[in-house]
Amino acid sequence: MENRQQKIVNMFDDIASTYDLANRVLSMGIDREWRKKGCNRAYEILNSKNITQITDVACGTGDLLIFWERYAKRHGVSVEKYIGIDPSVKMLEVARKKVNFAEFIEGKAQDLPIEDNSTEIISISYGIRNVVDRVDALKEFYRALKPNGIVVILEFTKQNREGLIDRVVDFGMKKVLPIIGGIISKNYEAYKYLPNSIEEFLTTDMLAEELESVGFKMKYIKSFSMGISTLLIAQKIKG
Ligand SMILES: C[S@@+](CC[C@H](N)C(=O)[O-])C[C@H]1O[C@@H](n2cnc3c(N)ncnc32)[C@H](O)[C@@H]1O
Repeated sequence: MENRQQKIVNMFDDIASTYDLANRVLSMGIDREWRKKGCNRAYEILNSKNITQITDVACGTGDLLIFWERYAKRHGVSVEKYIGIDPSVKMLEVARKKVNFAEFIEGKAQDLPIEDNSTEIISISYGIRNVVDRVDALKEFYRALKPNGIVVILEFTKQNREGLIDRVVDFGMKKVLPIIGGIISKNYEAYKYLPNSIEEFLTTDMLAEELESVGFKMKYIKSFSMGISTLLIAQKIKG
């Protein structure tokens, strides 16, 4: 387990310097829309104007934190502290240069370096798929969230692709994406890993069940862009 996890983290270290560029090119900027929807819906569901902490796990280069901050302002929400956590030192290096309002801490989802009941929001965008000890991580999210706090997951969940459009999407993800990602990052294997890891991952329903199995109450599930990206929001109901 540890070895597989370490290999994944090493891979992100390797592609960190080109990660943002590859992301924008491969998603053609649509990931911004997915992130925006995630943050907007989360602020609506949390329904609080004063937040002490937002914690972005598997924060990578810090993109989602930028959206958290931008949309807090638009919702009239004040946030005392933004924290980004990731085990990849190189991804964190990029994040620290890019995002000056957040604190970044090296750490893993399954062993979060934050206290019990300490944060109103835990987010993880395109990260939970990379966490080998996933159920342990979900339990950690539950532990660290304040009562009524929410976990916000954006992820490429496994889809049952059968129609013509589905096959086109499948072809793009499996054949085109690794080539373009490989050219930008000079690491073909890393971008081959992406479609493979999606295929080995859970469906949206399975992920929702896992969240419920550790105590969360599902609040919102929505897929975007022909099911490529899915948003799940779940709440910690008791203290
Ligand atoms: C695809 S990137 C997503 C980065 C960022 N959240 C975004 O939306 O662009 C996945 C991130 O998961 C991190 N990661 C891998 N294993 C992890 C773990 N066990 N716990 C937390 N983060 C992990 C990687 O280092 C990488 O930065």
